[in-house]
Amino acid sequence: MARRKIIAGNWKMNMTPTEAVELINTLKPLVATEDADVVFCVPAIDIIPAVEAAKGSNIQIGAENMYFEEKGAYTGEISPAMLTDAGVKYVVLGHSERREYFAETSETVNKKMLKAFEHGITPIMCCGETLTQREQGVTMDFIRQQVKVGFQGVTKEQAAVAVIAYEPIWAIGTGKTATTEQAQEVCKGIRECIAQIYDQATADAIRIQYGGSVNAATAPELFAQPDIDGGLVGGAALKPDFGKIVNWK
Ligand code: 13P
Repeated sequence: MARRKIIAGNWKMNMTPTEAVELINTLKPLVATEDADVVFCVPAIDIIPAVEAAKGSNIQIGAENMYFEEKGAYTGEISPAMLTDAGVKYVVLGHSERREYFAETSETVNKKMLKAFEHGITPIMCCGETLTQREQGVTMDFIRQQVKVGFQGVTKEQAAVAVIAYEPIWAIGTGKTATTEQAQEVCKGIRECIAQIYDQATADAIRIQYGGSVNAATAPELFAQPDIDGGLVGGAALKPDFGKIVNWK
């Protein structure tokens, strides 16, 4: 069974609510496609106007983070029920920027994964090595660890619909895309890891994205790889170029 591609933008801390609506209106006709799922992961405050602006289009709105408790005294956090009520379908979890600047660990990512599934939100779980880890030859060991901990307690039915984004940290925002071979190799390794944890059918179903300086020039070759099911795009998702990335074929 061929996996459906999923191409997501991660806006990070960019775009005010007004700018978000403008960008969605600009991109709407450019990202129209029936061949892939198209997701815009936007800052929390942009979610409601973004859902409204995307109505009637193929764009689905995702969040960039979420807390793992239902509700209560967690000042500044956003709950899964708040996201679903606002129309959110996907949530990015464990982005390397959250791990680096906001003390996110694979353990907290795991709690968030379980909560997201409980609420019917599809997680896009990020993993990826530093340049030092790549040079030390421990890339796959590190990523297997992130995936195993992140998926602890996740059922195989849930895992089958999850999304994993492989984002080598050294390729994020650096303009230095991983080579197609490097990206395919790790995405294949992640799929093998899922097969080990669950079974081959689950590994065949789960979607694995590549992220890290993806642009309109690099997307076609990356997305044509057998184990790369789309991309998680930062900078280029804020520009009309995103239309070309989505329509990479
Ligand atoms: P860039 O595409 O800007 O390198 O960002 C990648 C990323 O971190 C997406 O989550």
